[in-house]
Amino acid sequence: MAEEFDLVVIGGGPGGYAAALYAAAAGKSVALVEKDKVGGTCLHRGCIPAKHYLETASVFRTVAGAKVFGVQTDQPGLDLGVSRDRKQKVVDQLWKGLQGLMKKRKIKTFAGTGSLGAGHLVTVDDGSELHGTHVVLATGSVPRTIPGFDPDGEKILTSDHVLEIDKLPASAAVIGGGAIGCEFASMLSDLGCEVTLLEALPKLLPGCDADVVDVVVRSFKKRGMTVRTGVTVEGHEQANGQITVKLGEGESVTVDQVVVSVGRRPLTDGLGLEDTRVEVDERGFITVDSHQRTAEEGVYAVGDVVATPQLAHVGFAEAIVAVRDMLGEDLVPVDYGKVPWCIYCHPEVAFAGMTEQAARDAGHDVVVSKHSFNSNSRAMIIGETEGLVKVIAAKNGPILGVHMVGPWVTEQLGEGWLSVNWEATPDDMGQLIHPHPTLSETFGETVLTLTGRGLHG
Ligand code: NAI
Repeated sequence: MAEEFDLVVIGGGPGGYAAALYAAAAGKSVALVEKDKVGGTCLHRGCIPAKHYLETASVFRTVAGAKVFGVQTDQPGLDLGVSRDRKQKVVDQLWKGLQGLMKKRKIKTFAGTGSLGAGHLVTVDDGSELHGTHVVLATGSVPRTIPGFDPDGEKILTSDHVLEIDKLPASAAVIGGGAIGCEFASMLSDLGCEVTLLEALPKLLPGCDADVVDVVVRSFKKRGMTVRTGVTVEGHEQANGQITVKLGEGESVTVDQVVVSVGRRPLTDGLGLEDTRVEVDERGFITVDSHQRTAEEGVYAVGDVVATPQLAHVGFAEAIVAVRDMLGEDLVPVDYGKVPWCIYCHPEVAFAGMTEQAARDAGHDVVVSKHSFNSNSRAMIIGETEGLVKVIAAKNGPILGVHMVGPWVTEQLGEGWLSVNWEATPDDMGQLIHPHPTLSETFGETVLTLTGRGLHG
């Protein structure tokens, strides 16, 4: 006899655990099935460990550059094992907190692989049977690979492997210049690895504004990285402990390790679904409507398993939409064009809304303003003047896009994200006070300039 719940969630990453927590907070009885650890990719194999290593790189850069402040230090050394232990401490602390939260909300967790059959019946591979009035599918994604580049964790690594390394390779080729590729290339390069970044498209960071990408590429190159765009990766050969990646036209690059970061594919292996009406598209993503409803009544899907930006905070938002729908409450569907994006390479990238090109392609009559951090007093003080803020607005209308690259922009995006979602005009934002001296003044100056009355430029 199946155990009854108001909601059964399969998958305990950000999408799944947010659905469980939100429903439990609304007084529902909730079961969560997870085959590995609650927290999912984000906590154990993604955002959190990656940002830990990027912070390690940042500390390394700061110490290496300390002399310009008159702070006398030796050239820093690196013990990646210590950093890995610290990463694990941070992850474990967050993991413990999350488990405590689930317990406090009386969410019953089942360890195993869950599959969904007819009639909302979820079977766990330990033999448990659960029935949910509603079901949320949140099984996430795994790294995609390239044919012929089977990850072995030794010479060919995925992001999962990189986040467990305790020894820095002397050289590495990173295949794929999206968010993961740029974050890893930046981190490895700053720690002293000789990095070649290989991207198939003409530009790195597809989806980012062209001016922002130019700043990132300039910085990567200045720091000694080789950036190759528009390249085809055709295969590899291994010899003498090294791996040679063959590119088109007889070119190649020989390195110690290869990191494959060419996207992530949805994970529905073992999820059943054959006896349900849930639809999966040709790429493997579960099909949902704007309320996260699948084609099977009462069954929802959220997070990386649906074809929306693969970001933890998008998973959180989709989970809230799904639960509000099952509760019969008013809701605002996720507006994917206005989602905040934060990429933690050095220099950091953060944006929300349309790029200049996308706004023009959509037929907007646009006005654009850009301000560099090199005239920002705080940026000069901290010695991080590389980067800019770019704001795109409809002529005599709202702000359509805010794009930032530079120091701590992932923490600065707040008002940019808010102005895009609030459909604020440059004049609305320009009348707000930006404290001095702060990095945020560059955004203030950029919107003020769009009103035709900039103070400093
Ligand atoms: P991605 O889809 O963002 O980028 C993959 C890149 O690889 C693309 O630029 C693509 O053109 C390139 N590529 C594909 N095949 C190639 C080949 N054979 N040779 C050379 N280049 C090739 O995927 P990524 O970076 O792996 O990230 C996966 C997901 O995780 C994305 O949705 C990403 O947005 C998300 N993510 C977001 C982060 C953030 O916002 N900070 C951090 C890490 C991941």
